[in-house]
Amino acid sequence: MKRLFMVLATLTASAPGWAEDPVLKADSAPGRAATVEICSHCHSSAYIVMNSVFLSADDWRAEVLKMRTAFGASIDEKSADEISAYLGQHYGEPDSR
Ligand code: HEC
Repeated sequence: MKRLFMVLATLTASAPGWAEDPVLKADSAPGRAATVEICSHCHSSAYIVMNSVFLSADDWRAEVLKMRTAFGASIDEKSADEISAYLGQHYGEPDSR
């Protein structure tokens, strides 16, 4: 019973982060679609945003690299560049925008 509860809780909690993605800013910005598609394989977009407040554009680049090297995210160079640029611009420190 406890296990079933955990499964339901997980499904409910992660549902809004997928597909349409109401979380990320700037609907038509370049890199946003790749961020939604690639970065929400393992965790929600909300999780990324929640952990993003201190990152500069360069830090975002490093973060995307970390997802590739440390956690095995499969992201090609072009998408990694687009995603880093998108996150740096919309979720970077004010100084780095
Ligand atoms: C292959 C699975 C996977 C993919 C794809 C992935 N991540 Fe992660 N991500 C993780 C794991 C695992 C953690 C660590 C979770 C923890 O510490 O509990 C994490 C954590 C994070 C964190 C929190 C800070 C940190 O470093 O722990 C951020 C921000 C983040 N990811 C951003 C991204 C972005 C941006 C992308 C797309 C470029 C992405 N992730 C794609 C697996 C992934």
